[in-house]
Amino acid sequence: MKPFLITTAIDYTNAPPHIGHAYEKILADVLARYQRQQGREVFFLTGVDQHGQKVQQSAEREGIAPQEFADRVSEKFLSLWKTLGISYDAWAATTAPLHKAAVQRILNDLKERDWLYKATYSGHYSVRQEQFLTDKERGPDGEFGPEWGEVILLNEENWYFRLSKCSEWLHGFLETRKDFVTPDFRQTELKNAASKITGDLCISRPKSRLEWGIELPFDTGFVTYVWFDALINYISFAGYGVAGSSFETLWPADHHVIGKDILIPAHGVYWPCMLHAMGFSDEQMPHLLVHGFWSLRGEKVSKSTGNVVDPTALAESYGTTALRYYLMRDAVMGRDADFSEERLLLRHNTELGNGLGNLVNRTLSMTRRYREGSPKSVPLPEDLSAHRSADVESMRSFVTQMDAAQIHAGIETMVDLVNRANALVESSAPWKLAKDPEQADRLDAVLATLILSARAAATLLLPVAPDAATEILRQLSLDPAAIAGEIVVEDLPEGYVCGEPIPVFPRLELPVVEDAAA
Ligand code: ME8
Ligand code: MG
Repeated sequence: MKPFLITTAIDYTNAPPHIGHAYEKILADVLARYQRQQGREVFFLTGVDQHGQKVQQSAEREGIAPQEFADRVSEKFLSLWKTLGISYDAWAATTAPLHKAAVQRILNDLKERDWLYKATYSGHYSVRQEQFLTDKERGPDGEFGPEWGEVILLNEENWYFRLSKCSEWLHGFLETRKDFVTPDFRQTELKNAASKITGDLCISRPKSRLEWGIELPFDTGFVTYVWFDALINYISFAGYGVAGSSFETLWPADHHVIGKDILIPAHGVYWPCMLHAMGFSDEQMPHLLVHGFWSLRGEKVSKSTGNVVDPTALAESYGTTALRYYLMRDAVMGRDADFSEERLLLRHNTELGNGLGNLVNRTLSMTRRYREGSPKSVPLPEDLSAHRSADVESMRSFVTQMDAAQIHAGIETMVDLVNRANALVESSAPWKLAKDPEQADRLDAVLATLILSARAAATLLLPVAPDAATEILRQLSLDPAAIAGEIVVEDLPEGYVCGEPIPVFPRLELPVVEDAAA
């Protein structure tokens, strides 16, 4: 079976990571862990985008070399991914020699096959977005909006990629490959936008303006445009063009996980056209999984307004489990979400603490108290048999939802399963059954059913909160439920003895704000 190839956008190293970066990497990590749970081999690629104007400018401001600046910021990303448990297999840092060599090989090849040409262009240029602007970028008032920052007139010689040669192909491709982009409404958006994109793509910058990039192998007065360089990371770090690499079996990417701002034009137009020009077939085009944006109090997360949420600080205050769970739970795949510390605590304390944590705790305590950790295997009464079948149904739904990358829905399935199990605790009242010798078998059956429900819940939680779920399974003294392939009702293993309950989700509180006047 083809290994599951999952990538994220590579983050700009001009500033430290913010909540949006953390969200995207956790999202990809959850899908990677889920695929491993399904028994698939996974190749998970993430990394940093180290070239370009923004990095050069930030380095200049600090008076250090761009490589040093990029390395410093890259360290912050690396250390955050370690804290957050991002289980990537390869690290794409675009200043790596392997990547530079791949970009230069591709450029040479495209030039030889007449996909590149040199020309002079004069026009408006956005310094902030590092791109030339056309009339389409003008607002209703005819001006370039504030989102472009400083706009200057530039007249310069550059190298161009014949993007226009691909427009017909792209149109047909978007018509036939209806599932190129998830969610659907983004593909519709892309189709509408793509038909309006005309002209070729400038893929170089003269060194006089920007030095921090990969030199064009055939014209050394230029470096490669940062997007052309960055997009290639997806194949260069998967071994493209390297003799003896496993690229042929790895490619195409099952998910390129990206945010909504970089679908059009970079990933939705440039990237498929670049691949097409390189000779990739339609079947070798990747799948784009586009997520929404996190805001803070309804405002854009932006360093310039100070409206940033520091994921490293959040992980320190509340732990990785709560942070990962909240981000995956509160954002509906593809939609925007608003960050709130209160909601982070609420989700953790209610669904994990009062929900799953309480279920595990009560189940293990009662099993130890009434059955010395070891419920007897007995024939199941109808209601408990139905309960176990419902759990199996939940596990099947979870698989369907996660296959479709609907993580929030998968979590909701887990929450429903936990609620059902907690309701069974209340309705079956094991503490009453324990007082009635005639109900001994029923007590065994209830406890075993609850243990199996707790195992099912922990299994579904594994990709999202691996540490907490693993700890629950350890306390339950069970392996995860089998959810790869056909899912069936299982019983407790022979000779089963449960472990000791230890709280896994200690209640979180907002930090106490010291009253300065007191
Ligand atoms: O765009 N909420 O890098 P980047 C959610 N280097 N996601 C967000 C976000 C937010 N508030 N802000 C940004 C780049 N992102 C390029 C990518 S890929 C070949 C090159 C997402 O650091 C954004 O959509 O600006 C992107 O997917 C990722 O974070 C990196 O953004
Ligand atoms: Mg960006």
